Amino acid sequence: MKNIIIAIDGPAGSGKSTIAKLIAKKHSLTYLDTGAMYRMVAFFSLENNVDLNDELSVKKMMEEIRLDINNEQFMVNNKDVSKEIRTPEITRIVSKIASIKQIRENLVQLQREIAKGKNSILDGRDIGTVVFPNADLKIFLIASPEERAKRRMKDYEMKGINEESYEEVLSALKHRDHIDMTREESPLKKAENSIEIDSSNLSIVEICDEISKYILKLGE
Ligand code: DC
Repeated sequence: MKNIIIAIDGPAGSGKSTIAKLIAKKHSLTYLDTGAMYRMVAFFSLENNVDLNDELSVKKMMEEIRLDINNEQFMVNNKDVSKEIRTPEITRIVSKIASIKQIRENLVQLQREIAKGKNSILDGRDIGTVVFPNADLKIFLIASPEERAKRRMKDYEMKGINEESYEEVLSALKHRDHIDMTREESPLKKAENSIEIDSSNLSIVEICDEISKYILKLGE
C-alpha cells in the first residue's frame, strides 16, 4: 500500500508542531519538524560565522553540515542543538536562512528522503506547495498574530527564556510573517487543495479531532 503523507503548513505560532506531534502519535505517523531543520542551519551558520551573502560560503556550509534528527533530538555534526535552536537569537536570523535558494533545495531534498517509505506528517511553510505537492492531506493552520504572540510568550516562559516583551515578540512575528510570505523562494501560501483551520478560538483537542476526521476518511 502507498505511504500516507500529511502536510501541515501555516505561519509561526499557529500551533503546527503541537498539533502535528499529537496527530503523529494518534495515527502512528513519523513526524518531521522542517522548521527545526532551517533552525539547525541557522545555528551552524552562526557558530561558523558563515557569510550568508556569499554563494560559495553557503555552498561550502551545506557540504559540511550534517543533520541528524531523532524524534525530538536535533544533532548538527554530532552536537545536540535541540535547545539552542529555539532561542530568540536563532529565531531572529532563521528567516534569512529560509530565504536562500541553495539552502532550501538541500533541505527539501533531505525532507523528501526522510519521509520516503514511511507514513509521515510534516509541518512547515511549503510542505503542501513544494515538498509534497501530492500529499494525501494538506492542512493550512492559521491564527491571529496576537494569539500567536501570546502562545510564543507562554512557550518562552516555560523554557525560562525572558529576553523579549510581548510587544517585541508580536512585532518580530509580524516581521517574520512578512519575510516568509513575500520571499521569492517558496513563500508561505495556502496550497490550492488544502483545508484551512483557524486555531485562534479552538482548543488543541478540537483541532486534532477535526484533522483526525480527514485522516480517517483517507482510509475509506
Ligand atoms: O516553524 P519555525 O518557526 O520553526 O520555522 C523557522 C523558520 O523556517 C521560519 O522563518 C520559516 C522557515 N521555514 C520555511 O521556510 N519552510 C519550512 N518548511 C519550515 C520553516
